Amino acid sequence: MLPVGRMEDEEGPEYGKPDFVLLDQLTMEDFMQNLQLRFKKDRIYTYIGEVLVSVNPYRELPLYGPEAIAKYQGRELYERPPHLYAVANAAYKAMKHRSRDTCIVISGESGAGKTEASKHIMQYIAAVTNPSQRAEVERVKDVLLKSTCVLEAFGNARTNRNHNSSRFGKYMDINFDFKGEPVGGHIHSYLLEKSRVLKQHVGERNFHAFYQLLRGSEDQELQGLHLERNPAVYNFTRQGAGLSMGVRNGLESDERSHQAVMEAMRIIGFSPEEVESIHRILAAILHLGNIEFVETEENGPQKAGLAVAEEALVGYVAKLTATPRDLVLRTLLARTVASGGRDLIEKSHSVAEASFARDACAKAMYQRLFEWVVDRINGIMEPRGRDPRRDGKDTVIGVLDIYGFEVFPVNSFEQFCINYCNEKLQQLFIQLILKQEQEEYEREGIAWQSIEYFNNAIIVELVEQPRRGILAVLEEACSTAGPITDLIFLQTLDTHHRHHPHYSSRQLCHTDKTMEFGRDFRIKHYAGDVTYSVEGFIDKNRDSLFQDFKRLLYNSADPTLRAMWPDGQQDITEVTKRPLTAGTLFKNSMVALVENLASKEPFYVRCIKPNEDKVAGQFDEAHCRHQVAYLGLLENVRVRRAGFASRQPYPRFLLRYKMTCEYTWPNHLLGSDREAVSALLEQHGLQGDVAFGHSKLFIRSPRTLVTLEQSRARLIPIIVLLLQKAWRGTLARWRCRRLRAIYTIMRWFRRHKVRAHLLELQRRFQAARQPPLYGRDLVWPPPPAVLQPFQETCRVLFSRWRARQLVKNIPPSDMTQIKAKVAAMGALQGLRQDWGCQRAWARDYLSSGTDNPTASHQFAEQLKALQEKDGFGTVLFSSHVRKVNRFRKSRDRALLLTDRHLYKLEPGRQYRVMRAVPLDAVTGLSVTSGRDQLVVLHAHGYDDLVVCLHRSQPPLENRIGELVGMLAAHCQGEGRTLEVRVSDCISLSQRGARRLISVEPRPEQPEPDFRCSRSTFTLLWPSH
Ligand SMILES: Nc1ncnc2c1ncn2[C@@H]1O[C@H](COP(=O)(O)OP(=O)(O)OP(=O)(O)O)[C@@H](O)[C@H]1O
Ligand SMILES: [Mg+2]
Repeated sequence: MLPVGRMEDEEGPEYGKPDFVLLDQLTMEDFMQNLQLRFKKDRIYTYIGEVLVSVNPYRELPLYGPEAIAKYQGRELYERPPHLYAVANAAYKAMKHRSRDTCIVISGESGAGKTEASKHIMQYIAAVTNPSQRAEVERVKDVLLKSTCVLEAFGNARTNRNHNSSRFGKYMDINFDFKGEPVGGHIHSYLLEKSRVLKQHVGERNFHAFYQLLRGSEDQELQGLHLERNPAVYNFTRQGAGLSMGVRNGLESDERSHQAVMEAMRIIGFSPEEVESIHRILAAILHLGNIEFVETEENGPQKAGLAVAEEALVGYVAKLTATPRDLVLRTLLARTVASGGRDLIEKSHSVAEASFARDACAKAMYQRLFEWVVDRINGIMEPRGRDPRRDGKDTVIGVLDIYGFEVFPVNSFEQFCINYCNEKLQQLFIQLILKQEQEEYEREGIAWQSIEYFNNAIIVELVEQPRRGILAVLEEACSTAGPITDLIFLQTLDTHHRHHPHYSSRQLCHTDKTMEFGRDFRIKHYAGDVTYSVEGFIDKNRDSLFQDFKRLLYNSADPTLRAMWPDGQQDITEVTKRPLTAGTLFKNSMVALVENLASKEPFYVRCIKPNEDKVAGQFDEAHCRHQVAYLGLLENVRVRRAGFASRQPYPRFLLRYKMTCEYTWPNHLLGSDREAVSALLEQHGLQGDVAFGHSKLFIRSPRTLVTLEQSRARLIPIIVLLLQKAWRGTLARWRCRRLRAIYTIMRWFRRHKVRAHLLELQRRFQAARQPPLYGRDLVWPPPPAVLQPFQETCRVLFSRWRARQLVKNIPPSDMTQIKAKVAAMGALQGLRQDWGCQRAWARDYLSSGTDNPTASHQFAEQLKALQEKDGFGTVLFSSHVRKVNRFRKSRDRALLLTDRHLYKLEPGRQYRVMRAVPLDAVTGLSVTSGRDQLVVLHAHGYDDLVVCLHRSQPPLENRIGELVGMLAAHCQGEGRTLEVRVSDCISLSQRGARRLISVEPRPEQPEPDFRCSRSTFTLLWPSH
């Protein structure tokens, strides 16, 4: 594998010079030596500056493919060994970075490798574009790549010079959007060599499409087309029947190519019906070629006339072209002529006329088929949905692969056109590379030594000059009424160009036996002498086809075929302008092509054919020298060596590179752009490699340009950052302003919400001062989020205020009771359903006349005695109780709770004290959640006291809450907490024994009492 690496690594001295400009001496010998040396070492590409010289290796070299493409992508021309990819890359870069339309002109003689080169260029462009895989771009790329295969099938043929010779000229435009992605394309085709359909030289073939159809189709399909597989059966393909396609050393066969073309057509977007139509047209042409005419004798009623030898063929043609059989037959045998006014008469052909008409029809059918295929591909590749106002103007890369200069043993009208085309392109090359360059140096006042070169303008003039030029004379001959022959045409040429240095004929040069009298003329082309035979010039130029054929095919039922013959619509009686002749059409298309190319930035690939035998490794020195000479390569090197790689007007130069110098960035203050450019170059130390013109700077070597480009590339990110920074700053400022506005709006809105809420609160709470509820039922409106904490605080304040209002109205005597109730509520925590809150709490029930009518005075005495003895302040609570002791005995007792002690009294004995427990020792009490009056008092160091309040008036009044509240309020006052437990199964401890006590409601129970088992007590509660 040949490595594709850096220039220095692979272009050592043993491989010759990679650029002819670097040759020490510039003679033809040195040039050829270098070319040959490089060819022998498989270095088939060499530069002349930016022009690429390519020698056909006639074998596969490992120079292509994705790896090689990657090595050329984004590189400068001189960085890597010379390659087509480098040229494609340069054209692509110029197009993308400078928005220039570019074109790559590939020239060279037949078989020099132009078409192969154009394919490599397309592959390169396809490979480096569309990294984001946009579907539309991929589609365009597919069509671009696949179109070559289809066009080669219909437009290429095996010739003696090239087994895959392009028999048409091709110029393909690829349109790119501003991002450099291919978005469409257009193919122009030039002068298909349609005479090949009828006849080929020995060793040559008809167009590949015919053999592909015959050899590659299925049997069934062939049957449908009434075809036999053997091409020797058909007049048009007989000559080439024994020859293979020969492309790529015979690796490609017609069968395989047929498959490839079918696949390509499918991918491009040809419908199956269209493909079938194409096959039918090809088959019809083959059948048409086999039709022979015979004269018939007068035989009874049948008059003498013309007939078709094999009538079945007429049927096949009619069927395949979807036209009426008898109309086909009539069109073949006779033609309609308008005889003054609107009368039409039918004029029979002679055998020769009929054969001529048949051939003209076959040629025209094939040509229209080819043009239709090109148009169809163009229709598919047309850039879609592009609006220049929105998408910007498309930039274009054009690739020109046009037939090379050719010389055959017999050269006819086609070779004349092809060679004229090459003359035109050489003119363009001279104009752009040689002439314009020198003229510009002069104009700009750059010291310059003029280089001599051959300017072929004189030959172009010989061909296309108005009135006297060969094409004009031919046009004149074709338009003259009466029998004008090729001979008269030749004689007119001889008269006009008798003294022209590039024209001669046997008539003018009697001694030259290489030309024939009355048949040949010779043009001294820039590429060599070519002798043309005038036979058929007039017919080929006139290129006429009877209107009958056009009408016949226009009226076909096959829409594809019909679309190829729009001019068949015209009526024979319509007076139509004489159509332009083939030569004039070709000249016009060449002028347009050259104009188009001249408007673009050109890149040149000059192809050289190393030998006539199409074999690898053979370098035919004389043959190559001849090509080098006529391609003007030596002159090219001379101009290049003396010249400059690049020139740019000062303002444009500054615009591109001003950021690389402090004096010029962002704008210079020097006297002129020229001075600024000079300052810039001095800063880089590049002033030695340039010349200053009047309006432009001339840069001698590409390296200087690359140095500038590199330092620009280094600075671009910084400038981009600067722009980004400014832009981001702007964006941020916009965002900030927007945010501020948003916050202002939010602030005002919030303020409005708050105000509205406060007003609403104020409105609602107007009524809060009204006693007795003081706004208890008022509903707080939901606050805006921002006021949530505020509202909570307000609620607390409001509750306090309301409480204060309520408390304010309570008489001081009730305060004890109220405090006790509050304490009870806190202590019970809502766990006991009913705790007598609604009642007035009398507390000291044993002193009450209602509750204790019989013994209240006894209790009062005892109380007095106790007060004297224990010195308590107030009675917190007193009541009769039923108690149960640790011996499971129940007794009636009384309970007295003062602010000092808890007393258990004996009611039956004047309330004698049975037990006194200091109140500090009482730690808590337990009650149930029901209505019963069970309470267990827990005291530190004492047994738990289990009692049930009873003998109340009214009976079974709920006083537990009162006891809890009084005790809890007292403890609160002393700064300690009372442990209050609410449970339906109270656990208690007496002398270390643990017991459980629960309540059992009993409707029939008259008085509450206890029932005891070993470990449990049960209070039997008279529930109603
Ligand atoms: N770079 C290459 N590598 C390998 N083989 C090549 C290369 N270029 C050309 N060839 C061979 O040379 C043959 C002729 O090349 P190509 O068809 O490109 O010639 P051309 O210049 O287009 O001729 P024409 O003017 O007749 O169309 C190709 O079929 C191929 O076999
Ligand atoms: Mg070609």
